[in-house]
Amino acid sequence: MIRAHNISLSGREGQHRRTVLQGINIHIEPGEWVALTGANGCGKTSLIRSFNGLNTPSGGSLSVAGLDLRLPENRMAVKQHVQLVFQNPEAQTVGSTPFEDIAFGLENRGLERERMIARIHEILQQVGLSHKAEAEASTLSGGERQRLAVGCCLALEAKMIIFDEATSMLDPEGRSDILELAQGLWQAGTTILWVTQRMEELAASPRIAVLGKGQLLYDGSPRSLFYTSELPENLGWLPSPAVRVGKLLQKQGWPLHLLPLTGQDLEELL
Ligand SMILES: Nc1ncnc2c1ncn2[C@@H]1O[C@H](COP(=O)(O)OP(=O)(O)OP(=O)(O)O)[C@@H](O)[C@H]1O
Ligand SMILES: [Mg+2]
Repeated sequence: MIRAHNISLSGREGQHRRTVLQGINIHIEPGEWVALTGANGCGKTSLIRSFNGLNTPSGGSLSVAGLDLRLPENRMAVKQHVQLVFQNPEAQTVGSTPFEDIAFGLENRGLERERMIARIHEILQQVGLSHKAEAEASTLSGGERQRLAVGCCLALEAKMIIFDEATSMLDPEGRSDILELAQGLWQAGTTILWVTQRMEELAASPRIAVLGKGQLLYDGSPRSLFYTSELPENLGWLPSPAVRVGKLLQKQGWPLHLLPLTGQDLEELL
């Protein structure tokens, strides 16, 4: 799905150019769930914007969904396959109602009117917004707006959805709604890149990529990140309760594969 080889990106800062991303190598296979993390300003958003053609790397090669993004026409075409859900729920609705928003996404599908209306209702149901089909967009909650943004990705039949800290402005209920929605899509085959700074979301991801100052510092399993690498401590992360308990067990000689990563692991262990 993603083949990034040695990509770099520079941004403008007043008169100067500064390096935002440097020497990034990452491959993501179709159907994977990858979490991407790193401190504020380390380049997460810049990187994922290059994955759907919004940013153009200044060096290296990048192919997404089989399209070479060095070619300008492919940077348009890639949006068909890779969609972003942004942090700010306000920023991404275009229609005046959820029904209209999903209809925009389906417009280029060439569906007959009746088929299209049926499909809109299917999607609204899938994202839990059937009851809000005709609601004024301005009356939707943050969580409802984020679910609508996911609905638009479904209308476009995106193969990959990138969630850029899409739950960070939501309350716990809205947060778990979006996470569950994403997990359901992943189980149905969509490739997911989940950008987050939340320890428990990282620990529950099968693969984690860590960015620091525009460079890829780590790409691997949560188990080796939290239990065999010094990176979390060097970056000043506060470990989750499960990992704190796991560290104590590790000191007592417990084998790596038994150490808990999530709250659920911990419960099972107890
Ligand atoms: N359009 C732009 N032009 C110039 N510099 C930019 C632009 N967008 C971002 N930057 C800079 O690039 C660096 C990386 O920013 P980016 O938004 O990618 O980080 P991030 O990891 O997503 O941060 P956050 O966690 O705050 O969302 C920052 O120093 C930022 O100021
Ligand atoms: Mg960001």
